[in-house]
Amino acid sequence: MPLVTTKEMFEKAYKGGYAIGAFNVNNMEIIQGITEAAKEENAPLILQVSSGARKYANHTYLVKLVEAAIEETGLPIALHLDHGDTFELCKSCIDGGFTSVMIDGSHHSFEDNIALTKQVVEYAHAHGVSVEGELGRLAGIEDAVNVSDKDASYTDPDQVQEFVEKTGVDSLAIAIGTSHGAYKFKPGQKPQLRFDILEEVEKRLPGFPIVLHGASSVIPEYVNIINANGGRMPDAIGIPEDMLRKAASMAVCKINIDSDLRLAMTAAIREHFNQYPEHFDPRQYLSPARANIKSLVKHKLVNVLGCNNKA
Ligand code: G3H
Ligand code: 13P
Ligand code: ZN
Repeated sequence: MPLVTTKEMFEKAYKGGYAIGAFNVNNMEIIQGITEAAKEENAPLILQVSSGARKYANHTYLVKLVEAAIEETGLPIALHLDHGDTFELCKSCIDGGFTSVMIDGSHHSFEDNIALTKQVVEYAHAHGVSVEGELGRLAGIEDAVNVSDKDASYTDPDQVQEFVEKTGVDSLAIAIGTSHGAYKFKPGQKPQLRFDILEEVEKRLPGFPIVLHGASSVIPEYVNIINANGGRMPDAIGIPEDMLRKAASMAVCKINIDSDLRLAMTAAIREHFNQYPEHFDPRQYLSPARANIKSLVKHKLVNVLGCNNKA
């Protein structure tokens, strides 16, 4: 099976009240851990690559690794550019075989965001590629850019219809209180999401797929393992899983997860080295890291996203 677009995945997810997991990938072990989990759970997948991942691992390596995963699993997998910030970057990914791109114009004015997004949509659609746009701005760290809480803003539901109509995007990322990275809420702060905004967006765009970025739960068990094995992570708080399940049952069809993968991998490696300080063969510590990613992703697919047996 070749790489697929997100179109059919989102139609089924919307109707079925579940979401597709969009997992960030940076190397072979991460891709293997995620896709082995999805194969066992018979789940559709979006594997996404940031511009930082593309710089780290190289476009061709990532495309070939994802193609290898499709050959091994036979699953419907979409390859998506995460947080594309220029037309040129999106074009390069479209020309280089991606089946979906995000153009993130959320830091521009409404008008400039529309103009940039429309330009990407025209090129992408002419090449059979889906496009995700973004309205509203998440706090947190994205590709080394730290968006402070004061620069973050919720999506205005009154703008979404005009944005979708004028740009022609296939899905829309909105800001309802999630944020990027491991430190989403301050210690003592109660995690909250603006489901009222999501409901308003859903009313204005019936049947249209919504995307949730910054959706890691920052699983406390991993943070504890990291800190029990020499790590120095301050209190880290993520999005409670029941809130993600609720979003997935509503208009949210794509849920982005990266930080939880990083924590799963780092926890396994730190624990391994604490137990076996004499080891130096990368296979010795990357095997448990890959296995931890696999069990994390199985948990997400079944208990959070609800997309198991939907491939
Ligand atoms: O939203 C950002 C993702 O977690 C990707 O992070 O740009 O450091 O690869 P990155
Ligand atoms: P997390 O940092 O919550 O994993 O979010 C990832 C993301 O939104 C990638 O685009
Ligand atoms: Zn994101």
